[in-house]
Amino acid sequence: KRIAVLASGRGSNFQAILDRINDGYIKAEIVCLITDKPGAYSIKRADKAGIAVRILDFDSFQSRDEYNENLHETMMEINPDLFVLAGYMRLLDPKTAKEFAGKMINIHPAILPAFTGLHAQKQAIDYGVKVAGCTVHFVDEGMDTGPIILQHVVPVFFEDDEESLTKRILKEEHIALPNALRLFCEDKIKISGRKVKILD
Ligand code: GRF
Repeated sequence: KRIAVLASGRGSNFQAILDRINDGYIKAEIVCLITDKPGAYSIKRADKAGIAVRILDFDSFQSRDEYNENLHETMMEINPDLFVLAGYMRLLDPKTAKEFAGKMINIHPAILPAFTGLHAQKQAIDYGVKVAGCTVHFVDEGMDTGPIILQHVVPVFFEDDEESLTKRILKEEHIALPNALRLFCEDKIKISGRKVKILD
């Protein structure tokens, strides 16, 4: 399958996907990286891997609408089998979310529906939960609200702070996201309303 990745920052999840494609675990090709941040480290990773990069610098657009319109067009043009939001830090506009429903997945560093949005790991620490983790889900119009594909859980210890928990979750993200992509690429994911069935 043809995959395009959207990322705003460091791109360690993007790298995890690249690595698992390279070692044959995921049978796919990354056709493009789209980023809203010209300084994103993800760009360096893409360059190194010889992957095309489309930079849509959010700050260079007159308005959010103009940015959204450009992003939509870019996504239509690339037209992959799947978009992966790997640390893409913006909410997609409703039109784009609808257009690519079922063809766009996100990774979030919490066990949804708890702790949506920014600083999910800090929210978990502050709440005092005993388990945390990450969720891979389809993207809909909401913030971290689409149908859940899989969730990986990690323990939270009394001694944890935001940093240590973030590290533990991130390690799990790098396993969970490739797992979900492998399932998608093998056509083993079926959406039925809010529920996702994993075929064996
Ligand atoms: C990850 O924690 C991801 O779950 C969240 O943003 C972070 C991105 O990290 N959506 P990276 O850019 O993949 O290293």
